[in-house]
Amino acid sequence: MLGKLIRKKNVETEPLISVELESVKSKHIPAHVAIIMDGNGRWAKKRNLPRIAGHHEGMKTVRKITRVANDIGIKVLTLYAFSTENWKRPKLEIDFLMKLPGEFLSTYLPELIEQNVRVEMIGNFDVLPEHTKNAIQRAIDETAENDGMTLNFAMNYGSRLELIQCMQEIAKLATEGKIELEDIDETLIGNNLMTAHLPEPDLLIRTSGEVRLSNFMLWQLAYAEFSFTDVLWPDFDELCMINEIKEFQSRNRRFGSVNEEGDA
Ligand code: IPE
Ligand code: IPE
Ligand code: MG
Repeated sequence: MLGKLIRKKNVETEPLISVELESVKSKHIPAHVAIIMDGNGRWAKKRNLPRIAGHHEGMKTVRKITRVANDIGIKVLTLYAFSTENWKRPKLEIDFLMKLPGEFLSTYLPELIEQNVRVEMIGNFDVLPEHTKNAIQRAIDETAENDGMTLNFAMNYGSRLELIQCMQEIAKLATEGKIELEDIDETLIGNNLMTAHLPEPDLLIRTSGEVRLSNFMLWQLAYAEFSFTDVLWPDFDELCMINEIKEFQSRNRRFGSVNEEGDA
């Protein structure tokens, strides 16, 4: 029954989405897309529901967007799920958010495996509750052999914490005499971040109309294209994602250089 439902809803079977999908696939696809999934609370408030209802609905968007990102051919999808600052929220909300990875993965892990998706995580793993760690670790282990899209959850992630840890690591190498000051360059820093094994994001999307980074990938986003949409995360769907990729494909990335035509 569940299998049937999943297949019925598959984006490939939706004619409009299929056409749009083919159109974006024929052009340059961003290798790494990072999303700040925001607006769950406001989505719930608009419906007089508790904030956690918004988080629950947002989980369904994670499923949809993972599937369409994989269909598009994106190699890495990073989703900002919980920031180091989100511990400031009420305990009940935090507890709910910490249960979501378990709920998401117990429902959708078979589907992720079927889609050849590899689950990874960036962030401070050790201080997460045991049940959260177990759910994430199981998903990482069970998808470790998959070589399709990487679904990278930023969970208890904060860019400043990441940079502090990176600097500590590099300072340690220096004090141990393993590196010289001149060895500190972009590559060494990049290699000591939690994203060391990933390409830098080409595209950052933030939903819900907020126009800030909220401590997300400060180093890695140096040359990413930014897109801020008013759509709240639970309302963000396959077509929204496809449109974001289209918008990315219309951008002219110069990386400080000039176009071949010579215009800056
Ligand atoms: C994003 O939605 C989810 C997390 C930060 C965990 P919010 O909970 O921030 O929703 P708003 O911003 O209050 O609407
Ligand atoms: C950023 O959203 C963190 C995540 C999406 C996980 P927030 O809703 O926590 O950010 P602020 O507080 O509006 O900056
Ligand atoms: Mg928010």
